Amino acid sequence: MNPTSLTITQPDDWHCHLREGRLMKTVTPYSTEVFSRVIAMPNLSKPITSPEHARLYKKQLLKISPSFTPLIPCYLQENTLPETILKGHENGDFFAVKYYPRGATTKSHLGVANWKACAAVFDAMSEINMPLLIHGEVTDPQVDIFDREKLFIQDILIPLIAQHPKLKIVLEHLTSAHAVNFVSHADTEIAATITAHHLVLNRTHILEHGLHPHRFCYPVAKTEYDRQALRRAATSGNPRFMLGTDSAPHTLDAKHQHTISPGIFSSPIALPLYAQVFAEEHALDKLEAFASINGPQFHKLPLNTKSITLKAIPPQDNPSYLSLSETPANTKKPKPHLSLAVFQPPIPLQWSLSSIQNKNPS
Ligand code: DOR
Ligand code: ZN
Repeated sequence: MNPTSLTITQPDDWHCHLREGRLMKTVTPYSTEVFSRVIAMPNLSKPITSPEHARLYKKQLLKISPSFTPLIPCYLQENTLPETILKGHENGDFFAVKYYPRGATTKSHLGVANWKACAAVFDAMSEINMPLLIHGEVTDPQVDIFDREKLFIQDILIPLIAQHPKLKIVLEHLTSAHAVNFVSHADTEIAATITAHHLVLNRTHILEHGLHPHRFCYPVAKTEYDRQALRRAATSGNPRFMLGTDSAPHTLDAKHQHTISPGIFSSPIALPLYAQVFAEEHALDKLEAFASINGPQFHKLPLNTKSITLKAIPPQDNPSYLSLSETPANTKKPKPHLSLAVFQPPIPLQWSLSSIQNKNPS
């Protein structure tokens, strides 16, 4: 029998998109009321490539939610200088470096086409043990989209590790059994994030009974065999696997174009959804390691001092849509009313957040 209530150390989100402007104001509190530290991705309209920009972004996020810790990676480009990375790391502006293969996903057109051009940056990072966060998909149009993660591992990641064996790596948002197997057995300092949505979606869920724009993201969900491998990895207790929601909101107008923007906005339900998956796998005792311990251990950070309680009760107020924060009254041209859809898992949620408290209340 699964427990119906679970208290764990407060978790962190090791991969999230908190966006900018009104979208940022709307979505940020949904992450920060649950997660203590959040890696906020740098693929903004102007990518974050300088320590100054990272500092400014952090300030904007803290104005919205003063009591969380935003961690900002530098958006890697072929002309990124090692000195920029070292300076940003030393001052605490850059937590990590994010490698987007050029053209792989949303706002990655300024990313890296040839990773060998970044050798000096990777060497500098290796010296200071700074993590490289990788979107692991090749972008070759000849490669079938469902094979792009596997091919990235074979053609880019393995040679990159061979060239930079001391580089600390996080392979993000795994979607395939091949990637799970690679991370589990790699002979290097590597970890991986797994999203909640990839634990509950396979590719049929995106396409059956019509196309579901709010189940579509990159890397795209793969087969049921792959999903089962991801569930086994997340619930295994293996310290290499950690929570990273990759919550990536897009407004409804971006989701309802001829080409649908990739990204799933999961932050309002992510932690209960992970709990549900762990309950289904009879592995609730492994949730704390995955959500709250493996990440800080890998990144050499302290565990959070609060704890969070989840209950096996369907959420009472789980909105399907959110309206964007109102435009400030002094804006000359008010934007039209915009909203976004919250991810709805194929099996309705059975878990909800109950409370957050200090770990050892006296
Ligand atoms: O689906 C995705 N959306 N995958 C990514 O890698 C980026 C993200 C976004 O920023 O929208
Ligand atoms: Zn992402």
